[in-house]
Amino acid sequence: MASGTSRDVLGRGLSVLGRAIREQPRIFAVAVSGSVLFGLMVIASAYVVGAVVGDVVVPAIARGSVGTGALALAAAALFGISVLRVVGIFGRRLGAGYMQFRLQAAYRRRVTRRYLDLPLAWHQRNATGTLLSNANSDVEAAWYPIAPLPFAVGTLVMLVGAVVSLFLTDWALALVGLAVFPALFALNVIYSRRMAPRQARAQRLRAEVSGIAHESFDGALVVKTMGREAEETARFSARAGELRDALISVGRLRGVFDPLLETLPSLGTLAVLVVGAFRLRAGAISVTELVSVAFLFTVLAFPVRAIGWVLAELPRSVAGWDRVRRVLDATGEMPYGERRLDPADPTPATLAFADVRFGYEPAEAHLPGTEVLGDVTFTVPAGKTVALVGPTGAGKSTIASLAVRLVDPGAGTVALDGVDVRELAADSLAATVALVAQVPFVFDDTVRANITLDRPGIGDEDVWAALRLAEADGFVAALPEGLDTMVGERGTSLSGGQRQRLTLARALAGRPRLLVLDDATSAVDPRVEAAILAGLRAPTGGQGAAASILVVAYRRATIALADEVIYVEQGRVVARGTHTELLATVPGYADLVTAYEQAEHEREQNRTYDEVAPLTSGLEIEVDR
Ligand SMILES: Nc1ncnc2c1ncn2[C@@H]1O[C@H](COP(=O)(O)OP(=O)(O)OP(=O)(O)O)[C@@H](O)[C@H]1O
Ligand SMILES: [Mg+2]
Repeated sequence: MASGTSRDVLGRGLSVLGRAIREQPRIFAVAVSGSVLFGLMVIASAYVVGAVVGDVVVPAIARGSVGTGALALAAAALFGISVLRVVGIFGRRLGAGYMQFRLQAAYRRRVTRRYLDLPLAWHQRNATGTLLSNANSDVEAAWYPIAPLPFAVGTLVMLVGAVVSLFLTDWALALVGLAVFPALFALNVIYSRRMAPRQARAQRLRAEVSGIAHESFDGALVVKTMGREAEETARFSARAGELRDALISVGRLRGVFDPLLETLPSLGTLAVLVVGAFRLRAGAISVTELVSVAFLFTVLAFPVRAIGWVLAELPRSVAGWDRVRRVLDATGEMPYGERRLDPADPTPATLAFADVRFGYEPAEAHLPGTEVLGDVTFTVPAGKTVALVGPTGAGKSTIASLAVRLVDPGAGTVALDGVDVRELAADSLAATVALVAQVPFVFDDTVRANITLDRPGIGDEDVWAALRLAEADGFVAALPEGLDTMVGERGTSLSGGQRQRLTLARALAGRPRLLVLDDATSAVDPRVEAAILAGLRAPTGGQGAAASILVVAYRRATIALADEVIYVEQGRVVARGTHTELLATVPGYADLVTAYEQAEHEREQNRTYDEVAPLTSGLEIEVDR
């Protein structure tokens, strides 16, 4: 992680602040105005207090009586100053708060939006825990110094005002100020430089801790069943311990510098009193002036700390900003085109792969990428079902990803109804194709929400129609609250097969014209799987738009329903034809299908599927959970 030298941390930190100001100039102006008003009133209050002591209290002691007129005037002045100070504080606090939280919200939105724009390949290279921490703690860290920033800027103005007023009062006292204020500033800068590497380290460790936590909770099942709780806990606590040490070292530094920063203005007050006493005796200044200046140093101490707060947070801000920018500047998003397929067209779409080559990007830039697909050419004609068959790792899921444009080919084209998918607009693509992935994903929401995904125009009737096609209406109807049942995080309250059919229904509810099923019914009873596919091919009663289907399948019954079978091995189309033709002519194909069938058969003997009841009953027995 680039933390750079501490010198450029200051420069880069200031440029991050500059960006914040450019993004929220008006709110910043309000906050700084409030802060400047406050600063000027601090100076004014010092002079009024000086005047009260010099012109009211001292003469009163001398005379033995109080000049009520002067006292009333002073009281009124102090009251007025207090009111303006309150207004100043109010403006500053409100402005700073608005600015900080608006920036946080804006950047959280930008970062999460960016995640969704970035291609799948990028996500595969970045851990979920890191993404979470980028959108959360890094965004927060980047805008941390915004809270004290207006105060610090107002304080700088106040310090200039203080030095000017000191010079107007007495040059000797002004010299004390000129010695103390730059020293304060220098101390703050040293502080922030020392802080920089500690903060950067802490910020990086925060992300790592959240990454490990995320992974262990995500893999709770594996961790528990493999009895790795102790090791996982140790892995986590080692990193948590490092974070603790990093934060303690931040705290220790703060412990040293905070008192120093507090003490310096007090030393200034002391110096003013010493120097002032000589000047008073020499007749160069009055009691009023001495009291004013001494008081000024006392009241300055607190606001000057604001500069320290900003400088101390800058390193953390830079560390956070670097991590946020890494996301915002990430390249490789796949821009959509402008073309649209006729949205009213109810007919199935044609999918055509022409000489498609594809290789995943290497995990690290210097490693060679491996070609996963070479010269893949095939067509799924409108309304037809094409089965994609091949051994594990052959590239079937990769073909499915290309078909719905999760990734783009390195060479060749993927076309829908003759239009290159790269030229299609995002909504047109989403309305035309649907992928049911190998690993189903279910949101922690109701069954209904999981199927509609808030897409417009999908009513309960459509939801039930889709569920029927996916052979899922039975179990959903049996759920305690039907469509309103919450399914739990990632659908934990559903069985594997139920989850698969829910995601299938989700795809169907959008009435896609091309349906891509990547082993999407593997956890479903083979008979149910065949019934689903048959239902998709010949929807009854006009329910569900007929779609072209590309299906990754293993089971003979499923494959036999396809109009054509494409057999892939090691990223190449080895053979194509009907199931019967391939069985007769391609030895590899026959072996694969037979082997799979055997395994399936054995499995069926040994264990029950998650559904054992006949598919027609609608009253299914759920074994899992
Ligand atoms: N994100 C990735 N990065 C690098 N290589 C990948 C990635 N995803 C898949 N591969 C590789 O690409 C090849 C094809 O993978 P793919 O997932 O398409 O196979 P598949 O035919 O779907 O296999 P299965 O039947 O096991 O699902 C494999 O060799 C795999 O290791
Ligand atoms: Mg696969």
